[in-house]
Amino acid sequence: MNDRPIGVFDSGLGGLTVLQALADLLPDEHLVYLGDTARYPYGPKSREELQRYSLEIADVLLAEGVKMIVIACNSATAAALELLRERTDVPVIGVVEPGVRAAQKVTTTGRVGVVGTQITADSKIYEHTAEQLRTGLELTTLACPGFVELVEGGDTTGPRADAVVGARLAELADHDIDVLVLGCTHYPLLARTIKDHVGRDVTLVSSADETAFEVRDILERTGWMREPGGIPGRRTFFTTGDPARFRELGERFLGFELVDVRPHRWPTADL
Ligand code: DGL
Repeated sequence: MNDRPIGVFDSGLGGLTVLQALADLLPDEHLVYLGDTARYPYGPKSREELQRYSLEIADVLLAEGVKMIVIACNSATAAALELLRERTDVPVIGVVEPGVRAAQKVTTTGRVGVVGTQITADSKIYEHTAEQLRTGLELTTLACPGFVELVEGGDTTGPRADAVVGARLAELADHDIDVLVLGCTHYPLLARTIKDHVGRDVTLVSSADETAFEVRDILERTGWMREPGGIPGRRTFFTTGDPARFRELGERFLGFELVDVRPHRWPTADL
């Protein structure tokens, strides 16, 4: 048994989609979330920048005493999963492998689309992971600049979201996919708009549930699960941006109250 919290991070609000799955599956676990809102979007940034950001965030989470780190961000997973595993002595998991496994479970044709940020698409992490897991999937990956900004701007439905998403996803039309992996944790918050454009016969999958199951497997294997039946799991949120805005949008997206939202400030030189 281990009472310490699980650390979760993303460039902003997107990782809350993963936190929600964790909170549902593991209600007794304490969760500490950091949304690096001051430095989003991560997608257009370099691998080196995201490695630095990820190490800085890991330090904040480790100072909170976390027993495990979940990189609830595909871009940071692509850039820094291996590095964080080398540099920290707690288990670190990313969201890409769970996303690939989720797609493999539901595809019937094996033709799977992946939408994500520029760095995720450029890294080819989905293709490498699908190959490593010997899935046999035929992947078509598309970078979707602008989608994250829609979510962080609270603009997930309506004419602007419709125009940006529609224009980008038109490129997937000829690929005859039956599953689309939302390879950015912000994108489940755009799911209805995405579905409207990609076609209702295409199944959307996100990595959130699979990631939560993987966390549970690790806790079971290590014996680090919190004892059930005590005080319920605490949820603590840090944002490097504006806490009031983070709370407002987070509550709107998640549908539950974010009681404990705290600011975390980077030294100006790090921004
Ligand atoms: N939610 C993140 C991801 O999964 C980051 C998006 C961004 O900040 O560009 O890639």
